[in-house]
Amino acid sequence: MTYPETGREKISAFGHVDALRLKLNDLTYKLGAVAHNPDYELKLAVEYLMRTDFWQLKAGIVPLNGDLQHGLRLVEKAVELRLKTRFPIQYILGRAPFFGLDFYVDQSVLIPRPETELVVEQALSLIPEDREFRCADVGTGSGCIAVAIAVNRPLVRCVATDISEKALAIARKNAAKHGVDDRIDFLLADVLDGVKGKFDLIVSNPPYVKTDEMRNLQVEVKFEPEEALDGGEDGLKVIRKLLRDSGKKLKAESHLVFEISPMIAEAVAELLESESWHYTIKEDYSGQARVVVATHNREVSGFGKALGKIFGKG
Ligand SMILES: C[S@@+](CC[C@H](N)C(=O)[O-])C[C@H]1O[C@@H](n2cnc3c(N)ncnc32)[C@H](O)[C@@H]1O
Repeated sequence: MTYPETGREKISAFGHVDALRLKLNDLTYKLGAVAHNPDYELKLAVEYLMRTDFWQLKAGIVPLNGDLQHGLRLVEKAVELRLKTRFPIQYILGRAPFFGLDFYVDQSVLIPRPETELVVEQALSLIPEDREFRCADVGTGSGCIAVAIAVNRPLVRCVATDISEKALAIARKNAAKHGVDDRIDFLLADVLDGVKGKFDLIVSNPPYVKTDEMRNLQVEVKFEPEEALDGGEDGLKVIRKLLRDSGKKLKAESHLVFEISPMIAEAVAELLESESWHYTIKEDYSGQARVVVATHNREVSGFGKALGKIFGKG
């Protein structure tokens, strides 16, 4: 059976396609020993290394041309390495998807997480499409947040900071890959130290794991950079400075959007209230407190405190 619109063919019963499907099922099964979501990991490997759609392959629809065998051997090697070392599949592949885009990653950057897409969604909802807008991304890592924003809002200019020179090099590469390097300035800086000018929006996915909890992280996460995860004794070390710097660097009525974990949500809410921020905390798709959207109002601190009590509301 041929699918004319895709140029792909389903070869039925006992052909090499069935052998391929069995192999993919076998690899998913093996990955299940270490991966939370083995199908997702195998999908990444298949799509990067075989350059074909994973679900179509699983359904027995294969491209008419292309060297599937070679690709499959690479996928097998990647899975073997994953099983042997527990090294995250994204580092093995050197790539990770985020907000529908493909990012280079290596061990100098955090692997972009699906929940961080909520930061981008909130940011985009605050950025007009028809005027210039100045945005800062604090702790840019792979550059995923700044790049996703710049790709989706062609009039945005960004400053993206990080304390890791190696991370900034990857972020620059990602910005160039997506054609937005002329609108993002990457700077080595502690939060916003030394960054000039004011911003219409500040976004961040800061490190927020409490130091004590670092040793309980799952094996794969321990391969990621410590400075991307460790938020100090109470998880708030970088967040405190983010609030301080943002208070000075945001234009009036402008927003700060940043990711948190449910473990620190209450402490973050207290901090925001004590520093006169108006805020809401958005939940992620699994109902966990995940993204803070805040504005700073220097003149009405008492009023600000009252309004700040909307913790947990969307
Ligand atoms: C949780 S990772 C987020 C990376 C990326 N934005 C993402 O969402 O995948 C935090 C990043 O902040 C950087 N970082 C840690 N402390 C920082 C600081 N004081 N100032 C700027 N960046 C910092 C780390 O190097 C790391 O790249």
